[in-house]
Amino acid sequence: MSWNEKLKKIPYGGDYNPEQWPEDVWEEDMKLFRQAGIDTVTLNVFSWAALQPSEDEYNFDRLDKIVKLVTENEMNIIMATSTGAHPAWMAKRHPDILRVDYKGRKRKFGGRHNSCPSSPTYKKYAQRLAMKLAEHYKHQRNIIAWHISNEFGGECYCENCENAFRNWVSDRYKTIYDVNKAWNTSFWGHTFYDFDEIVAPNELSEEFEFMGRAHTDFQGISIDYKRFMSDAILDCYKLERDAIKEIIPDANVTTNLMAFFKPLDYQKWAKEMDFVSWDNYPGPSDSPARIAMSHDLMRGCGDGAPFALMEQTPSVTNWQPYNALKRPGVMRLWSYQAMAHGADSVLFFQMRRSIGACEKYHGAVIDHVGTGNTRVFREITALGKELRDIGNATIGMRTHSDVAIMFDWDNWWAVEYSAGPSKDLAYRELIADYYESLRNMNVNVDIIGQDTDLSKYKVVIAPVLYMVKGDLDERIKNFVENGGTFVTGFFSGYVQENDLVITGGYPGKLRDILGIWVEETDSFGPDKCNSFSYHGQRYPARILCDLLHLETAKMKDDYGYLEDFYHGMPVVTSNKFGRGKAYYIATSSDESFRAAFLSDVLAASGVHSLMYASEGVEVTSREDDTATVIYILNHGDAEGIYELHDEGMEIINGIEFGAGMHKIAPKDVHIIKIMK
Ligand code: GLA
Ligand code: ZN
Repeated sequence: MSWNEKLKKIPYGGDYNPEQWPEDVWEEDMKLFRQAGIDTVTLNVFSWAALQPSEDEYNFDRLDKIVKLVTENEMNIIMATSTGAHPAWMAKRHPDILRVDYKGRKRKFGGRHNSCPSSPTYKKYAQRLAMKLAEHYKHQRNIIAWHISNEFGGECYCENCENAFRNWVSDRYKTIYDVNKAWNTSFWGHTFYDFDEIVAPNELSEEFEFMGRAHTDFQGISIDYKRFMSDAILDCYKLERDAIKEIIPDANVTTNLMAFFKPLDYQKWAKEMDFVSWDNYPGPSDSPARIAMSHDLMRGCGDGAPFALMEQTPSVTNWQPYNALKRPGVMRLWSYQAMAHGADSVLFFQMRRSIGACEKYHGAVIDHVGTGNTRVFREITALGKELRDIGNATIGMRTHSDVAIMFDWDNWWAVEYSAGPSKDLAYRELIADYYESLRNMNVNVDIIGQDTDLSKYKVVIAPVLYMVKGDLDERIKNFVENGGTFVTGFFSGYVQENDLVITGGYPGKLRDILGIWVEETDSFGPDKCNSFSYHGQRYPARILCDLLHLETAKMKDDYGYLEDFYHGMPVVTSNKFGRGKAYYIATSSDESFRAAFLSDVLAASGVHSLMYASEGVEVTSREDDTATVIYILNHGDAEGIYELHDEGMEIINGIEFGAGMHKIAPKDVHIIKIMK
């Protein structure tokens, strides 16, 4: 049974650390939780040292008390395994557990998320702790999910990792001959004769000295190290997951992800998770669309299934340079935004503000003042009541999208490791440009990986599809032949999965689908810009400008003409291929160009916006067999309007809404259920 199937309402609560407090405070917590409508707590996130005081000694007494208390108070539990930070005694006794950083320095005990993923000590004890916890709590009926470790991440370059990397490489390529081929080691005389000549690519070995750590002499080696590290850490997750499942076969196991987190290939990770959960901490300049994009990425990793919002701050973070408060109404708005994009939970970090160490000024449900008499607590209580009223009306519903944006971790690593053509190729930003334009049109968007089935979409957009893995080109071909619309652009189709260039002209295997040949590419710094025209309007051309030739593609009369010695060359091309069309955009432009271009593409492909809404008002939908739920979120500071096509029931307030124009107050949310 999936994690959300039995839920009677959206789980509401979050990370609860009573172990940091004397027990008389716990009763006070329970009272305040009840008041706020909190019904779910994530326990035991960082208690390894307390649970295992020494090599063979385990003590769950305090955790038992906490579990008993929250159970008596009718709360559900998300049980963490505590392996996100290892005990000090373990680091002293078994230094193999400590990581070696990119500069080659051995770490000392400290911090968290600090264990080497290849350490035999860490693996043995983490697995054993997960097993003991599962054994101990296997009859605890109110555990709705198991939460492995916490925000897995980081990297290690120790000797154990180096050896594990050699094994990983040998599993992948089998022979040293194939390794040399994959990494093109005849460049700079790097030919390897034995696997044990291979070293971890860090500052001491393959850093590209002209451009620093972001780039590398041998992209092939560095990309493989990224893949290896992501896999090695995933193996640690799997060890704990399997230990739990061996004892509780129907346990729902997850770990909290971080959306666009570069070190870990979450599309691969999510396949090993019963459900995706993630922690939403937007940066100060993130637009609502940026936050939405992270939710959609997370939903996509889980194949479209509802995910858990595992953490968000109720009010403020403490780890950004300037920690602005969430304005009144914004915590509620962003909680519903998560639900609007597929979340079936609203959980916070943290329940009570700690008094010491680096998170003591991080927002919490209960502040240092210790009472419910705060703005934040009142907002939490109000949302708690709303979520109780909504009940399970939206749980399990899925998002239907006609449009997908392709995003891929290997591609991310490859694009940004590349030495040339520009250091300004920030993959996530280039994806966000498209995403944001689509969101502004109020269409649902899926963010998909390279192995996703394309046939369910009308439009697939793959910006900077630099690395084309496996048979993706064939699948794009089928998709377009069968009537799909494909959009890509500069720096696409260059390399296969080992970052080796596909010769015979860019964009490599996408050349016939797009019907063009890219001969050269010009690159500009931030202070230079070219321009082109589209439907008679002039738009900027930034970062890269491809010099391309039409083969079977067409450039309409008013499609772009660049300036400079390559003026007259096409910028936007379209190619009829079977029953569909493939578009290419040879440069990076601005929002007004993307809005014009994408609205043409969507109209030609039969994709409609969910509804009209004024600026700043976001619209999404989720559905099941019986109903569609439309979420209308006003991120703006002014009253907004939107046009409902059908009548329905606004489920926060239980009011009938007729078809036609409606007003929505600033920061307000309407959730309208329309029966099918
Ligand atoms: C992360 C962690 C939490 C906490 C918060 C603070 O998401 O998982 O333990 O540190 O950040 O924002
Ligand atoms: Zn290591």
